[in-house]
Amino acid sequence: MNIDKLRNQTPGTSHVIHFNNAGASLMPSTVSESVISFLKKETLRGGYETANNYRDQIDQVYPVIATFINATPQEIALQENATMAWNMAFWAIDFQPGDRILTSVSEYASNYIAYLKLQKMMDISVEVIPNTDAGMTSVEALSSMLDEKVKLVSITHIPTNSGLVNSVEQIGDIIKPYSCLYLVDACQSVGHYPVDVKKIGCDMLSATGRKYLRGPRGTGFLYVNNEILTQLTPPFLDLHSAEWIKKEEYRVRNDARQFENWETNYAGVMGLKEAVSYATNLGISNIWKRITTLASTLRNTLSQISNVSVHDIGTTQGGIVTFTIDNISAELIQQKLSSNDINVSVSRKSSTRLDMEQRSLDQLIRASVHYYNTEKEISTFSDAVRAISTQANP
Ligand SMILES: Cc1ncc(COP(=O)(O)O)c(C=O)c1O
Repeated sequence: MNIDKLRNQTPGTSHVIHFNNAGASLMPSTVSESVISFLKKETLRGGYETANNYRDQIDQVYPVIATFINATPQEIALQENATMAWNMAFWAIDFQPGDRILTSVSEYASNYIAYLKLQKMMDISVEVIPNTDAGMTSVEALSSMLDEKVKLVSITHIPTNSGLVNSVEQIGDIIKPYSCLYLVDACQSVGHYPVDVKKIGCDMLSATGRKYLRGPRGTGFLYVNNEILTQLTPPFLDLHSAEWIKKEEYRVRNDARQFENWETNYAGVMGLKEAVSYATNLGISNIWKRITTLASTLRNTLSQISNVSVHDIGTTQGGIVTFTIDNISAELIQQKLSSNDINVSVSRKSSTRLDMEQRSLDQLIRASVHYYNTEKEISTFSDAVRAISTQANP
């Protein structure tokens, strides 16, 4: 990878050290320009007219995303974010009283809230698959929990704040003989790790545009395996996802776009298409390799600073690095870093309550690197963390 060239294509890199790629990555100019250019066309020609004029280019987003995750274009539905994508899939499942849902310790709050909401509506059980000693969802434990009452196995691939990458491919292999559905929250893994829906063997997978794909905010997508489409009922329908064919009758589309709405942010879609093409051109294996090299340098450097604790777990670790500094809150660390033009996130217990409670954690700093970050930035970042740590622990 020509990092200088990639940074030149990313104007934000000359303003900030951006270690908040798991929040929202810096967009390359080509992505922001495609959004702006589409908005300009809408401004001059009208929104509906522009969509009609550029329909072929807009529709290219489906094969571009499909190729990136080894799906078919008919298996992709555009969504406004990963939460909406995940909820569209989850609430489409025909849950019945007595069904079991198996999920991971590191499950994201919004997903878990949906399980709890469903539990208020009917008698289903939500069971958490224990972790291995290293902190990953245990494939062995899952294997002993599976039976015909399991309706759904729902796993977060790269959790919000524990650094790890769950073994979604192995999980897919284990559950293959069972009739349950398999939903993967790939919000933080698409554009980060080589996500291949066939290798994972998942039925549904949700993703966002703004994180590791480097797309615009307010974009995302859902993958639904064509073979299970008839087992699902979209929770909402409109005149795009279904056709009103007689006074008392409608017909639902027979592809994943039955999970879409008619109205959408076309400029954002153009940006998403550009972002996925950009990642495709770079090659996801190269991206993953560079991210893991940078993240492991960052982890090693931080763990050598006095009063700093790195909290990442798991045997396979990605670009998300989490840490605390003794005697100073994560919020204050974030503020101090921000005053040095360094961007990070604060991750709170309420985002991944099961994991954080299990590890007696309250708040963490989440520093998430992408391929366009540099060793020099890691060094500047570590110096800033060292200075904060010294001030807090004189
Ligand atoms: C693991 C995980 N899943 C889902 C989401 C929600 O994604 P979105 O904000 O795009 O809806 C997040 C957001 O941080 C996340 O970390």
